[in-house]
Amino acid sequence: MKRELFTTGSCLSKMFLILFLMISNYNAFSQTLYNEFHPGKIWKDDRGIHINAHGGGILFHKGTYYWFGEHKVAGELGNTAQVGVHCYASKDLYNWKDEGIALAVSDDLQSDITKGCVLERPKVVYNKKTKKFVMWFHLELKDKGYAAARAGVAVADHITGPYTFIKSYRPNPGSMPYYASGTPDSLKVNCEHPGNFSDEFFCRDLPGGQMARDMTVFVDDDGKAYHVFSSEENYTLDIAELNADYTGHTGKFIRVYVGFQTEAPALFKRKGKYYMIGSGCTGWAPNAARWFISDAIMGKWKYKGNPCIGEGSKLTYGGQSTHVLQVQGKKDSFIFMADKWAPKDAIDGRYLWLPIQFKGEDIEISWKDTWNLKDMKML
Ligand code: GAL
Repeated sequence: MKRELFTTGSCLSKMFLILFLMISNYNAFSQTLYNEFHPGKIWKDDRGIHINAHGGGILFHKGTYYWFGEHKVAGELGNTAQVGVHCYASKDLYNWKDEGIALAVSDDLQSDITKGCVLERPKVVYNKKTKKFVMWFHLELKDKGYAAARAGVAVADHITGPYTFIKSYRPNPGSMPYYASGTPDSLKVNCEHPGNFSDEFFCRDLPGGQMARDMTVFVDDDGKAYHVFSSEENYTLDIAELNADYTGHTGKFIRVYVGFQTEAPALFKRKGKYYMIGSGCTGWAPNAARWFISDAIMGKWKYKGNPCIGEGSKLTYGGQSTHVLQVQGKKDSFIFMADKWAPKDAIDGRYLWLPIQFKGEDIEISWKDTWNLKDMKML
């Protein structure tokens, strides 16, 4: 009898155990496991939901990649910030775990980042000295369209957040651009006699700070960080030095490709050269990408034309740059990350990740339906 009871009990507990395992593993069974990239397709996270991190960037920290981007909601409302900045983590770049909202918009109507503002292109960097994670983003104040043109900054002790909003402002008030010694006066902006309309916007905004819209942040090997942003009504791109704790501007900056409307900047460094990929300025609609190269971050950036080749290249395959990611442990492997925007249903925006190919110093990007890291040339 005793024995029988024991057996029945054991059977029951086994059944419960199996049931429990089935329920708890349901998500694991239903989860898509990726071993390739599928540019432009729905890309599910560990919960089976399309990744929600638009206009994003990636920070590699202690063996894990962290992807930060704009959390969009459905419909056109999703073109405004209703939730905040979403964070995902991955070890292999294909499979992403939802780490939740890193920076939340505020319920306080007085806050610069009140729900309904426009909070775009968040980028996170790590400051080794302060041991803080610093997030920069493009901020437009609620119900003011794109008029504010501010840079916003938030910090956190932990990479996944929560990030605390510090301030938003227009950078570098009262500061003239930095010029290499020997630059003739004729090439410098002269606010007494602005030479073109881009210079006029620059001089107009000199007292209150320069406009700051599409942006990225780049940390150089020497630990100095730079905020790169579309300025002067988007006609020019500024590369501006950040202070030692990365939470403010020093007043030192250069203007790149003045008058040519470069947006969506993404920077990287390879073999001592600085590279920048950007886009033209056509709102959510795609246009041709453009790239630049320079020997120094504050040096002379050379315009190099469209890095994309083949079918779809004139419209960046329907996307717009947001970040260039260096794959860890693979020398010379860089991924071009772009957004395929869906302004009518913002949450449906797609991600186009494509490998960058190097030809000497030059770069090329071509479309791939699917690809994986093993395809990347190792040098
Ligand atoms: C794009 C820009 C996006 C967003 C959009 C709004 O040009 O890259 O980040 O600001 O315009 O129309």
